[in-house]
Amino acid sequence: MSAKTVVHLIAAARPNFMKVAPLYHALAGEDWCAPQIIHTGQHYDPNMSDDFFRDLKMPRPHHHLGIGSGTHGEQTGSVMIAYEKIALEDRPDWIVVVGDVNPTAACSMVGTKLWIPVAHLEAGLRSRDRRMPEEINRMVTDAIADVLWTPSPDADENLRAEGVAQERITRVGNIMIDSYELMRPAIEADDAPAAMGLEVGAYGVITLHRPSNVDTADALEPIVGQIVAASEKLPLVFPVHPRTAKKLDEFGLKERLESAAGIHLIEPVNYIRFMSLVSNARLAITDSGGIQEETTYLSIPCLTLRENTERPITIEQGTNRLTRPAELLDQVNRILAGDWPTGQKPDLWDGKTAGRIVEDLKRRIAG
Ligand code: UD1
Repeated sequence: MSAKTVVHLIAAARPNFMKVAPLYHALAGEDWCAPQIIHTGQHYDPNMSDDFFRDLKMPRPHHHLGIGSGTHGEQTGSVMIAYEKIALEDRPDWIVVVGDVNPTAACSMVGTKLWIPVAHLEAGLRSRDRRMPEEINRMVTDAIADVLWTPSPDADENLRAEGVAQERITRVGNIMIDSYELMRPAIEADDAPAAMGLEVGAYGVITLHRPSNVDTADALEPIVGQIVAASEKLPLVFPVHPRTAKKLDEFGLKERLESAAGIHLIEPVNYIRFMSLVSNARLAITDSGGIQEETTYLSIPCLTLRENTERPITIEQGTNRLTRPAELLDQVNRILAGDWPTGQKPDLWDGKTAGRIVEDLKRRIAG
């Protein structure tokens, strides 16, 4: 009997956990495959990590590298050093990296240099903004990974325009939707609005963590001003990311949010609670990548506080709009007036992406 194909699934930060979970479950259900989770440790607070593993029914990681926060060089370098040892010892048959965080690029480099095939899930997204660290990670990873699993046609086009051979690309759809569908019963059973004293469809959800929005007082202060003004129109729930919490404190802005009656500042919440909040919301205000996609899938208006997005399909087909901080209140008013598209679900955002990945992997291993 031949040994099972060992696949390392690299998980580092909160948004990675939702991408790895459905694929882990799909691969674990195949008799030829032994998926193993490698947690690099970038997100380590229980509410940024362990709670997600529990919600998403993932086993304890097979390896935990324990590489926490640091500068980009420190994080990338430390992950490479730690993961190379494991890759050399375990010699996995495949490495799957997801998303665009520093360990995504770091583990791709380790794998390709050891001649272990690397697949990138959520490949081909481009913001064309090189000031964004994630954009550099996307470009590096897609340049060297052997297989590129894309979520949408724009991603395929970006890769082809960069000269990537068609046989490296397979469009599989959006894995985040698989996580949502996998967890839908639990999300629907969790009545987050009631638990927080909110009325279904009558509040907004905010998330903010991009360095370009939160790392300087010049950027963060006007956003806080607009959020406070918008909270007079409808209550806003704001689970504060650790990076943002530090900056709000540092710039003396936390007080302003705390003293606004319509703003509910809370700690980051687990996946089920967060999706219960989003799916029952009137609107979302965010600078995250995943929330642009989840709101498009759920047909919830989304205001993205960025100058660009690597997920243009959420604007072309969905409910997402890029918004400058100065326009935030006006856009909230438009949404409340009902002047907003309902959008449509992009092709292959159907909860069946993990299955398509399994088929593609089988085909590539066989061929
Ligand atoms: C990272 C990703 C970003 C992703 C985001 C999701 C990169 C380059 N960026 O940004 O793409 O959208 O995660 O959340 O990888 N911290 C804690 N506890 C934790 C984790 C972090 O307190 O569990 C603190 C760190 O000390 C640091 C700050 O939060 O000061 C930022 O963490 P870091 O992982 O460096 O980047 P993110 O902003 O989370």
